[in-house]
Amino acid sequence: MTTVEQTQQLHERIAELEAELAQRTQEAALKEQQLERYAADLRETFKEERARAHELHRSYMLTVRALASAVEARDAYTGRHAERVAAYGLLIAAAAGLSLGDEPQIEFGFLLHDAGKVAVPDAILFKPGPLTPAERAIVEQHPVTGSEIVRDIDFLGAARDVIRSHHERWDGTGYPDGLRGTEIPLSARVFAVADTIDALTTNRPYRRASSFAKARIMIVRDSGSHFDPDVIAAYETVDDADLERIRRQIG
Ligand SMILES: [Fe+2]
Repeated sequence: MTTVEQTQQLHERIAELEAELAQRTQEAALKEQQLERYAADLRETFKEERARAHELHRSYMLTVRALASAVEARDAYTGRHAERVAAYGLLIAAAAGLSLGDEPQIEFGFLLHDAGKVAVPDAILFKPGPLTPAERAIVEQHPVTGSEIVRDIDFLGAARDVIRSHHERWDGTGYPDGLRGTEIPLSARVFAVADTIDALTTNRPYRRASSFAKARIMIVRDSGSHFDPDVIAAYETVDDADLERIRRQIG
């Protein structure tokens, strides 16, 4: 083969390779476009999914609030107690490093903690004087009744822990199960502090509301007996001004 022929062959080979390269480049561009379309589709699907999850959560929240209002409608003194306690509880939980963002059921539990009180007769629930042992036993049954009411409602999940265990005490003298220390679910230990803050800072027929500062002194005194010391340490980092703001907003 002559040099001229060799050169020509080389040019032809280069032309072939260039054509192949152009084709590959075109194919790659098409694939890229296709991938971009897939990515856009996925983004859109995620967005729709998020919107659906958000809407579902909103429906759950409205249902839970309606239920909580039904429970509270009987008791004019406590007003929007469940909503306030839920707000206090979320604040303390955040201070305790307990992320409730992933478990919205815990907030549902805060709102529905006293659902079981529907089974306590008015004559006992609103009795002005001290309760007899038999009446006390009926009142102390409300966490059990409440947890039974929500037992089969799947979306309430961890809310049941709060409903069942919100009257347990750190030292094991609470009810209904006499759980002690960390046997009590953390959400219920946080709730117990929030519930007491609201009880002490709300007017009751038998006593005037305390200030948040005075309530704090009383609650901290019960660290290790009624309350989990770690939850109390978290509560100590929460500013009374923030609690008072909730009190003003949710009257
Ligand atoms: Fe209760």
